[in-house]
This record gives sequence, C-alpha cells and structure tokens, in this order.
Amino acid sequence: MQDTAHTEFVLDAALDAEIARATDALRESRHVVALTGAGLSVESGIPPFRGPGGLWTQYGEPPMDGYQRFLADPAAAWREQLNPTAPWAVGLAETLAAAKPNAGHAALAELERRGACAAVITQNIDDLQRQAGSQVLLEIHGNAHWLRCSGCNQRFDRDELEVDPERLPPHCPSCEGIVKGDTVQFGEPIPPDVLDGCFAQVALADCMLVVGTSTTVYPAAGFPLEVLHRGGCAIEINPEETEFSRLATHSLRGPAGAVLTRILDHVAGAEATR
Ligand code: APR
Repeated sequence: MQDTAHTEFVLDAALDAEIARATDALRESRHVVALTGAGLSVESGIPPFRGPGGLWTQYGEPPMDGYQRFLADPAAAWREQLNPTAPWAVGLAETLAAAKPNAGHAALAELERRGACAAVITQNIDDLQRQAGSQVLLEIHGNAHWLRCSGCNQRFDRDELEVDPERLPPHCPSCEGIVKGDTVQFGEPIPPDVLDGCFAQVALADCMLVVGTSTTVYPAAGFPLEVLHRGGCAIEINPEETEFSRLATHSLRGPAGAVLTRILDHVAGAEATR
C-alpha cells in the first residue's frame, strides 16, 4: 500500500491492480503523450472549472466572447484584467501566484525524464507543469505568467514588458501590435505554433494519459479520441466519472497526485528489475 503520509488518499488493491495494468500498457507504447486539465492542479490549491468546487459550477460559465470583447475595447479588457470584478476572477491571480507544483506535476516530469512520457499538452495556464521541469510542454490555453502580441504572436514574460495602467493597451516593441495576456480567451483562436505542436504530438501518440480533465473543451477534448480512433490506448486519471470514462482503455478513479506517483513507482520498479 502507498505511504499514506505521502497523501491522504489510500489506493485500494483493486485500483492499484488497475494502475499496474495501465502502466503495462503505457510501457508497451512507443509514444506516450499526457493531456492534463484543471484537476491536475486542484492538489496545488487551484480550483477546477467544472464538477465539485468548480469556478463555473459556482459562478456559471463566463461569456464565450471574451476575445471579441477584448478586440472591441482592449483598454477596458486590460483594466478588467488588472483589477478583476468578475466574481470568479477575484483572487485568482493571487491563488495562481501562490500555487506550487504537486506530486502529479512532478511525476509527469519524471516520467518524461525516464522516457516514459514524450510530451505534455496542458489546458492549464498556471505554469506549474513548466515549473515541475517538463521539457516538451504545450500550453494549449496559454500561460498566465506571459503576455503575447495579438499581431505577431511574440510572447513576453510579464516582467519584461512594462504595462502602464495609464497607457493601455500595451503595444508590441517588435510590430506595434496590441499585447494581451497569453491566456487563450473564449472565442480566441489557439496560437498556430502551439496548435501545430499539439497536432504533431497527437499524430505520433499511441497512448494518451488523460489527467484531471472533463474533456469538454475542443480541440483538446478531441485528442484522446483521435488516439483511440487510431487504435491507441487512453488512460484516464480522475476521481470522478466523466463522459470519456466509458471510452478510456483504463479509467483510474483517483486523484492525479497519488495515481501518477503510483504509475511512476511501477515504471521505476520495472526499470530496476531489468
Ligand atoms: N485529480 C484528478 N482529477 C481531478 C482532481 C484531482 N485531484 N480533482 C478534480 N478532478 C477532475 C474533475 O473531476 C474534472 O473532471 O478534473 C476535471 C476538471 O475539469 P474542468 O474543471 O472542466 O477542467 P478542464 O477539463 O481542464 O477544462 C478545460 O475549460 O473553461 C475551460 O479553459 C478552461 O482549460 C479549461 C477548459
């Protein structure tokens, strides 16, 4: 049994056996890609969007035209971003700033180091998978720590581009385009460089870890379906049942931190006995 001091979640024998089977499938695969969602960062103190404790569950889904409203009045959008008034956004910047990678983020980075996971596609904007050390990382919905030029797609760390509240919106030093947060807003096209990277990884994948996501937002939600359609396997890690659970090759009903750590144990154990 797993050391409960490590986490309050105790893996029962049935789940542990399913994790072992899922890990065998992962180790037999040629190119494993992880798709992660907000559930992976719940154990870092960041609320999810849907399901228990979700922001949308609590406050309702936000308008789906955030990007169109940004384009219509970038200065107003920036003022809202700098001093949020939307209930779900108040305090979120502080929560993100305080969050640290958890055991799930660390396990994914270690699986990459051991050659057991080729890439992570994350829907999360919290920077935690990058902080955990993942090298091949595609942040399909952007990164809240960065800014991006809506004209030339150049990205800037928030510390490297001054945002003057008296002169909004900021403009790109390279092309004079309007600079926005790197986070992909509802209604905004996903930056082509990131989307192409995701499609390339999905095309190579014969196994996908589907971690902490309700698989409700496309195109990310389509990635595991594409892998299954091509005869690959999908390993879901989620304490709740989702629409995807019945399609998954393995559906591991537990929290990402404990389950990913157990998968890593099995991978490391198998390597040790080689
Ligand atoms: N470990 C693993 N999964 C968890 C955990 C946990 N500890 N806690 C919750 N979950 C699961 C929930 O059961 C849920 O299925 O994580 C999932 C989170 O789903 P969402 O909140 O819908 O998050 P996500 O799938 O990432 O949303 C996709 O929707 O609003 C947009 O842009 C936003 O990127 C986001 C996208």
